[in-house]
Amino acid sequence: MIEKIEQLISEIKELKASSAEELESLRLKYLSKKGAINDLMADFRNVPADQKREVGQKLNELKNMAQDKINALKEYFDAQKAEADKPDLTRTAYPVELGTRHPLTIVKNEIIEIFSRLGFVLADGPEVEDDWHVFSSMNFAEDHPARDMQDTFFVEAHPDIILRTHTSSVQSRVMEVSEPPIRIICPGRVYRNEAISYRAHCFFHQVEALYVDKHVSFADLKQVLLYFAQQMFGPDTKIRLRPSYFPFTEPSAEMDISCNICGGKGCPFCKGTGWVEILGCGMVDPNVLELNGINSKEYSGFALGMGIERITNLKYQVKDLRMFSENDVRFLKEFEAAN
Ligand code: DAH
Repeated sequence: MIEKIEQLISEIKELKASSAEELESLRLKYLSKKGAINDLMADFRNVPADQKREVGQKLNELKNMAQDKINALKEYFDAQKAEADKPDLTRTAYPVELGTRHPLTIVKNEIIEIFSRLGFVLADGPEVEDDWHVFSSMNFAEDHPARDMQDTFFVEAHPDIILRTHTSSVQSRVMEVSEPPIRIICPGRVYRNEAISYRAHCFFHQVEALYVDKHVSFADLKQVLLYFAQQMFGPDTKIRLRPSYFPFTEPSAEMDISCNICGGKGCPFCKGTGWVEILGCGMVDPNVLELNGINSKEYSGFALGMGIERITNLKYQVKDLRMFSENDVRFLKEFEAAN
């Protein structure tokens, strides 16, 4: 027995482990319940009484030194692991993927920027609106088709509460609380109950502009429109106004610009005409001023509204409106350079 113990002692003195896993298997081999040392402990019963003292001491010595040896090796591997787990402060950082601005945001910002150079300031209003601000205060007759269920999303429980169908509602929001001069630009989302296709969506974006002051004239409107068109689409851009009708403007017009894809020569985009329509505009109807608390004898104004998707299509030739809301990263990445 003493020999066996001596042999184990010298074996354990020389113990080496090359990994924490190997060390663990050594611990099991010597120190676990079924390990070599416990086996000896079990044999201790059979040691003759006169040797018990000597063998007992040796056994204890073996057990303690085995424990110490294993602990020392364990400490080494623990320290090594702690070192490996430390963050490496010299490592280069992960590359940060930069996002890109959405094309509609890029164009919206550009429109705001152009109008702000002319002194227009930002305004906004709620997307969930009431009938008054969207229609009644904008001089829509009680039976105007735009109020039809087919165009407007109603909030079921409140027939008076709707999703705004145009940003013209912000004209009313601003006029009811301000004194002229008023010069605002208002970008925002609007909703219409339309079947979704490549050329229509149930939500899209508009920018509204309103200018109310003493002696605002149609000539002012025309000059602002020309300035905007040439800033947005280039200095050679021409504009043309066609008479039109909107309940909130009188007279009303639609503005075309010379097609910036073919330069006015005629192409599939402008259907061979050389012109493309980009916005609606007109002199604010005196009824609208009065309905919103502004004296129409003293003040006049002009207003205009355009679709941001339409302007973006013209600038970037996006052929399918749905691309704007699908969040396909491959599409969005194409606008990296424009950011
Ligand atoms: N609200 C109109 C629409 O959604 C656009 C518009 C036309 C706005 C003429 C105006 C305007 O301010 O004067 O189609």
